[in-house]
Amino acid sequence: MFRRRKIPVFLLGALQLAGVCIASKRASTAVQTTRTSITGPLVGDDVPSGIPVVGDYAGQYRPQVHFSPPQHFMNDPNGMFRDANGTWHLYYQYNPTANVAGNQHWGHATSQDLYHWINQPIALFPPEENVFIFSGSAVVDRNNTSGFFPNQTNGVVAIYTLAKYGSDGSPGPQTQAIAYSRDGGFHFTPYERNPVIASNSSQFRDPKVVWYKDHWAMVVAHPQEFVLGIYTSPNLIDWTHASNFSHHGLLGLQWECPNLVRMPYYGQDGQKQADTWLLAISINPGAPVGGSITEYYPGTFNGTHFEAVDSVARIADFGKDNYAGQFFHGLSEEEDPVFIAWASNWQYGQTVPTARENWRSAMSLPRRSHLTKADRVGWKWVVRPYDLSPIMGETLAFNESQTNGTTMVDFSKVESNAVYWEANVTGIPEQGVPATATLNFTFLSPVTGEKIRGGFYFGGDVPFYLDRSGVRGFDNVFFTDKFSTNSLPHNGSWSMSGVLDRSIVEVFLNGGVDSATNTFFSTQPLTRMTLSTSDLPKGMRVSVRVNALKSAWKKVTNKDGLVYGNQSVKATSSGNIRRLPRLD
Ligand code: FRU
Repeated sequence: MFRRRKIPVFLLGALQLAGVCIASKRASTAVQTTRTSITGPLVGDDVPSGIPVVGDYAGQYRPQVHFSPPQHFMNDPNGMFRDANGTWHLYYQYNPTANVAGNQHWGHATSQDLYHWINQPIALFPPEENVFIFSGSAVVDRNNTSGFFPNQTNGVVAIYTLAKYGSDGSPGPQTQAIAYSRDGGFHFTPYERNPVIASNSSQFRDPKVVWYKDHWAMVVAHPQEFVLGIYTSPNLIDWTHASNFSHHGLLGLQWECPNLVRMPYYGQDGQKQADTWLLAISINPGAPVGGSITEYYPGTFNGTHFEAVDSVARIADFGKDNYAGQFFHGLSEEEDPVFIAWASNWQYGQTVPTARENWRSAMSLPRRSHLTKADRVGWKWVVRPYDLSPIMGETLAFNESQTNGTTMVDFSKVESNAVYWEANVTGIPEQGVPATATLNFTFLSPVTGEKIRGGFYFGGDVPFYLDRSGVRGFDNVFFTDKFSTNSLPHNGSWSMSGVLDRSIVEVFLNGGVDSATNTFFSTQPLTRMTLSTSDLPKGMRVSVRVNALKSAWKKVTNKDGLVYGNQSVKATSSGNIRRLPRLD
């Protein structure tokens, strides 16, 4: 039997601020670790290295088209890049030994299409006892600016925070460090003169690096001062402080995981205008809907300074489960940046019932992004699911003209238990839409009557709501259950699309001008969908489509029902190879 080790658990975000110990009784016990070489990584006795952790992706809550870790606790996406062969690399904050945060490593997975993932061995291990690998980014150092890659163009440098803790769990300094990979991002060697940015502060983390014309630029958070530092470097090793961005928009109690990214700006006519920049900041705790949220600023960046277009506070997503997201490095300037977020919230992410399936947290869908100016409100960060065709399954319902009627879909036979749906509405009059004109959808368990639902009111203030109060698998005071936003039709049209994936629902309104990500936990699977419209005035037309989604994990599931990941990878330099036992 696999033995769970006792681990020191650091205190994160809200919990840290509130002085709450997140792993209670286990917190004070020091980890016993095995140092495998003088300079090599420190691999805990029960931390698998060299081969991927084995996962069971069959559980009722396991998303089938979203990424989730094979076992145990995951939070922020880290180090995301696409390599020259088109392989997408996703690293993530990973506790390989428990279903709560702590003992942070970088897990790793790769994909050709952002939906079918192959679990890879853990990529980054703590360098010494009581030091953890926190969030950060990765870049391909094609021109060998760092000097680590004399004979190759695919060298990868990871830039991350080393978070030190005292043996009593008290937070010590957070510093920025780097590690390089000569095999395209699978195995990393920590730079021997780490850290590359020293500090005495226990609040200095989450470096995100981009290339700007002729140098690297890093944005990194001083979370409790509400300051983002911008640093520049010619080589990823020597960093110079260039400017600060601070006290804009909402503060909450901490700013974490900043992202600075070149972002195309499309006019409402769909035509591409000039590129601009977007700065995203994750706020936790203290988001308006509680806990964690992502805030963003459109603006300009000149390589050293970021200037926001205005002082407006804008929030990505009106749901509650979109945090610490990151943009992939390595895309061309012609492509829309691609974003993935942690689909959870620190207010309850460590207590959700997926632990009974021995895992916690999934990532959001991959989202193509651009900026636009929407009616009335102006600047908006628009997000749409990345090309869903690799997972799109059979059409379960299609109704070209469903005005004032109902479409019902029984998807109990859809093996993934995941569906995509969309509704496109045209002919919305500018005046005289009754307040009762609605479009509603419900996902239902015919066994228990549990449901989640959402809907749009075409009249009045044009509100859209999402309601997860009708499911009963999780009870937590911070698990806010109703959300709404206001979504203006544009030129008489309005649209909605969404993905329901066992325990996650994501919706995109008006092509992603507004969006929401919410987890939900029903006691029985939701297997029926009803989509209905009523009181729509003459001239309005609604077309609806519902499709099955194909499980992305099924393809890589072994005959014994488990997902083994990339078993052909070579052992890490630690040489300390252990495989987790089967889960049965
Ligand atoms: C955000 C965060 C980061 C930190 C990481 C630790 O969720 O608190 O600031 O680097 O998680 O896991």
